[in-house]
Amino acid sequence: MNTETGSVPAHVGIIMDGNGRWARGRGMVRTQGHLEGLKAAKRVVKAASDMGISYLTLYTFSTENWKRTAEEVGFIMGLVKQYLRGELDFYRENRVRIRHAGDSEGLPPDIRREIEDACEDTRNFTGMQVILALNYGGRDEIIRAVNRAWMFKSSGSPGGAGNLRLREGDIRQYLDNPDVPDPDLIVRTAGEFRTSNFLLWEGAYAEYYISGKFWPDWTGEDLALALQSYGKRERRFGGIRV
Ligand code: IPE
Ligand code: IPE
Ligand code: MG
Repeated sequence: MNTETGSVPAHVGIIMDGNGRWARGRGMVRTQGHLEGLKAAKRVVKAASDMGISYLTLYTFSTENWKRTAEEVGFIMGLVKQYLRGELDFYRENRVRIRHAGDSEGLPPDIRREIEDACEDTRNFTGMQVILALNYGGRDEIIRAVNRAWMFKSSGSPGGAGNLRLREGDIRQYLDNPDVPDPDLIVRTAGEFRTSNFLLWEGAYAEYYISGKFWPDWTGEDLALALQSYGKRERRFGGIRV
């Protein structure tokens, strides 16, 4: 059993997958799937906040998703903008804080500004934190953290870079959101059994839940089912049950 059986996970990450297949199955263009996916995100954010989840990381766009057509990429970026602006009242009412994970320098300047503004406008809100993983890759996050840790340590190290030995804590403190606890539960929709570069460092001991449903079909009830499954897991973190 989960150490605190039935308890709500503090941090849930969601790999929101299947927008394209959802659309194709209906004879629609892929972008229509992303539009419906945005509606699902709004539903699930509301449900997660009502359920008492403290941190919700939404995998919105990966460092590998730039391989898609310019049209699809542009459409997704436009939706992100729409989401951040359109939900401002919701954030205020529910005290939701917006944060970003990923390489912000690689984002188009207008999207970057939009995210910075949303993060700034909501920074003092004490309700659920929604972390948008946008231009996010687990490997990229680790590489950026290692570079920062290395630069900081080598500048302060008496022996210079040659005397350098990084430890777990050195890397951790330079991750994108070091104060956010590791995810307890990672959900992937659309039936795929892979991480696709999501929270590689932080997800070391996350429980996984795979849903066969495409993301645009997801509702709060699906999240409740995922939490139910999580409540039955036995988390050992490499130890043994006593
Ligand atoms: C997830 O849906 C959204 C993003 C990756 C941006 P997909 O667009 O990957 O949908 P499928 O997997 O092709 O069905
Ligand atoms: C993962 O989905 C990325 C997001 C959901 C944002 P992908 O559709 O990009 O992953 P693969 O290509 O199926 O592994
Ligand atoms: Mg996909």
